[in-house]
Amino acid sequence: MLGNFTYCNPTKLFFGKGALEEIRGELKKYGKNVLLVYGKGSVKRSGIYDKVVAVLRECGKEIYEDGGVMPNPTTEKLKEGCERARAAKADLILAVGGGSVCDYAKAVSVSAYCGEDPWEKFFLRFEEPDGKIIPVACVLTMVGTGSEMNGGSVITNHAQKLKIGHVFGEEIYPKFSVLDPEYTFTLPAYQMVAGFFDIMSHIMEQYFSGTDDNTSDYIMEGLMRSLIHSSRIAVRNPLDYEARSNIMWTATWALNTLVAMGKDTDWEVHMIGQAVGAYTDATHGMTLAAVSPAYYRFIMPYGLEKFRRFAVNVWDVPTQGKTDEEIAEDGIRAMEGWMKEIGLVMNLRDLGVTDEMLGGIVKSTLIMTGGYKVLTQDDVLQILKESL
Ligand code: NZQ
Ligand code: ZN
Repeated sequence: MLGNFTYCNPTKLFFGKGALEEIRGELKKYGKNVLLVYGKGSVKRSGIYDKVVAVLRECGKEIYEDGGVMPNPTTEKLKEGCERARAAKADLILAVGGGSVCDYAKAVSVSAYCGEDPWEKFFLRFEEPDGKIIPVACVLTMVGTGSEMNGGSVITNHAQKLKIGHVFGEEIYPKFSVLDPEYTFTLPAYQMVAGFFDIMSHIMEQYFSGTDDNTSDYIMEGLMRSLIHSSRIAVRNPLDYEARSNIMWTATWALNTLVAMGKDTDWEVHMIGQAVGAYTDATHGMTLAAVSPAYYRFIMPYGLEKFRRFAVNVWDVPTQGKTDEEIAEDGIRAMEGWMKEIGLVMNLRDLGVTDEMLGGIVKSTLIMTGGYKVLTQDDVLQILKESL
């Protein structure tokens, strides 16, 4: 049965070619000082930085910069960002980049004036913000995380070998986000397909839970079918606007909280993937890809009916003359085939994981309780070994 819920998503989206031109009205709502946050330089090479600066200048904004945000942003960089935001007296943080830049902007937004160690407050103790919050907006250049329309912020602490996400409330969601599919055309193939699997994983980790008849599961089947279809086109021709725009829209829906309403969700693959990330700093979507086949085979007996449905409704697996187990296994096999076809990393060794790391990765993995099987640490170890 669909559980009770309250749903609100306050992020305003500007989608499509040239969408950046539409944000002037939004910019007027905020004060003069804008902290422009970006990554390691792709936005300068692609020309997106110049376009954003031009719009900000036209709107009379004072621009302060915080570049150099790394993939999987760190506690050290967060500290630096807080100092920059305070020095700028930022009225708005404008994140121009992928999930890392957007997540980092949200972390700075709640941390700049929190008056204590933000890592401990928000990422270890999971407290809610109680101080001044700086509004965040986003110009997205990499598709996958859904950070452009959610409250998630994932930060890595290398010293503690932990990568942890805090899902903040609606006051931390980007006030507005620009989604121009052409801004993603310069992504290297590796990043592009890692993002595709991040989307798939977000959907699967909300789909593989619960046994009720739930509208969200039907929506998610449609999203997965669209993603699989468009991803095949995009790997052949990354400049196919139709495919890239469909994928961008799918990514946003996959993790803007809508499909999680009123249903259980799993998220264990993300917990294992984040622990792998804490040890290797590997690309987020690839950490999920490397462990997913082993994880889903492991939990399949506990949610067989849903795996059968996944095989039939998402992968068009023929059912005649087969047991439910065989149909379910064919679904996972079809998923693996697609993963190889689009060029994902299929094992942990290729991400730099060594046998010696496994024990530590197990300890860094948070155990979730919403999926078909609550894992033990031995289960996590077994999945990791099968994923090596
Ligand atoms: O740093 P630059 O030079 O910009 O290069 C980036 C980076 O190297 C590059 N890139 C981005 N847009 C580009 C581009 N290169 C060329 N052309 C463009 N248009 O791509 C690389 C990866 O960027 P990043 O932002 O790290 O990727 P992604 O969007 O996958 O974000 C990953 C982070 O988001 C977190 C992950 O854990 C990870 O830390 N997540 C956030 C979530 C959320 N907020 O809800 C949920 C996700 O599950 C995820 O955990
Ligand atoms: Zn993800």
